[in-house]
Amino acid sequence: MAKKVAVLIGSLRKDSLTRKYAHAVAKLLPATLEAEFIELGDLPLYNQDLDDEGTPPAAWTAFREKLGAADAVLFFTPEYNRTIPGALKNAIDVGSRPYGKSIWNGKPAAVVSQSPGAIGGFGANHNVRQAVVFLNVPVMPAPELYIGNSANLLAEDGSIANEQSKQVFTQFAEAFGKWVESNAKA
Ligand code: FNR
Repeated sequence: MAKKVAVLIGSLRKDSLTRKYAHAVAKLLPATLEAEFIELGDLPLYNQDLDDEGTPPAAWTAFREKLGAADAVLFFTPEYNRTIPGALKNAIDVGSRPYGKSIWNGKPAAVVSQSPGAIGGFGANHNVRQAVVFLNVPVMPAPELYIGNSANLLAEDGSIANEQSKQVFTQFAEAFGKWVESNAKA
């Protein structure tokens, strides 16, 4: 049976380039993996009081259950002010608590960042890594995927517009398949 990969997208914008790349990369995943897009825009900001009082918002609980059932995670993020968007950081925080019940623990992951600029969201990419490594997530070290000049690499139908980029994305997706096979919990 294919392993379930939770796909998280750090932009809430309806025409988000990050979302378009998430769909393009998801289509290139090997047959051993099945992508499930999990939304994070409706998660209330993390407040530990609500967990301590036993009244977590329903959206937190649903998110934790969906993430908990996934075998692996693919993070797609834009860069906001050289770091990750608040919505994505909030989702990481929500999934990490209550203390001792983190749903991230041991789930293999990889990070893709994109930017219309030249640096490809490098800062955001490494800030995702920084947060989730702390949560004992084995993050695929290489190949890395920083998509620069991102407004110009997609065709009208959302596919990758040029062969060279397609090759890079395909290598990334295949490497992630192997990473999940070697690191997913039994
Ligand atoms: C940006 N953008 C941006 N780009 C970048 O390369 N480095 C940065 O630090 C920032 N900072 C930043 C802050 C905020 C608040 C916004 C809204 C935007 C531009 C950003 O990369 C661009 O808008 C992307 O297209 C956003 O991703 P989506 O929404 O298209 O997925």
